[in-house]
Amino acid sequence: MPYHIGFNQKDLGINPPEIALLSGEPERSRYIAHTYLQNVKLLSEYRGLHSYLGYLPNKKAILTATSGMGAPSLSIVVNELIQVGIKKIIRIGTCGSIQPDVSLGSVVISQGALCRQGAANDIAPIEYPAVADPFLTVALVETAQKLQIPYHLGITASVDSFYEGQERVESSANPNLQSWLLGITNQYRNLNILNYEMEAGTLFKMTGVYGFSAACICGVIAQRTESEDIIAQDKNLAVERAIKVALESIS
Ligand code: URA
Repeated sequence: MPYHIGFNQKDLGINPPEIALLSGEPERSRYIAHTYLQNVKLLSEYRGLHSYLGYLPNKKAILTATSGMGAPSLSIVVNELIQVGIKKIIRIGTCGSIQPDVSLGSVVISQGALCRQGAANDIAPIEYPAVADPFLTVALVETAQKLQIPYHLGITASVDSFYEGQERVESSANPNLQSWLLGITNQYRNLNILNYEMEAGTLFKMTGVYGFSAACICGVIAQRTESEDIIAQDKNLAVERAIKVALESIS
């Protein structure tokens, strides 16, 4: 029994899922399962890492699982998902835009990540590429086009901290950032990085090392060219769009 995810291969039935939809929040995993899947079975709630098995209308088995926040937790969950037979992972997350044209409520599909994450360095050398699976990624893009959902395709910055690493000062308990972080968002903007989030880079590096495929779609819930804040009224729309695109792309 993989210790953290709290279920094993036998719990996945005779027609086990190869695809996991991976959310940071347990509530999102539950929402996806109960809103979009049939014959849903709760697999585990251990440590808040809620996992559900369910089926699309075409009977395809799907796992909706929870990564928790940040790369250390994600790396444990993904390691164990691979051990129970998962071959493809789509992260359905949220992010903060750092480009003026990447607006609140839209979705960002990551083609690769600048990976500034400590957990990834335990998995592969720092220079190892953090790239999304091209086939899953193109499927996400084509689905967003088909559903007429506003999307952006590009490079994501995956970092370890929400406040310091994303250069938040006004909303942080500590307004004094280390000097190397001052101005980093502007540097990333000039490098054409689209958004900040906290999991994709490590997930992408793991694909190469562990031999599975992954993609990432995030709803934009903060617009960092205007404010540090999460804009709660845009969250539902942004997340719903990301879920719809991910689900339709694998249906
Ligand atoms: N997730 C992040 O990591 N940053 C944001 O600004 C919003 C969501």
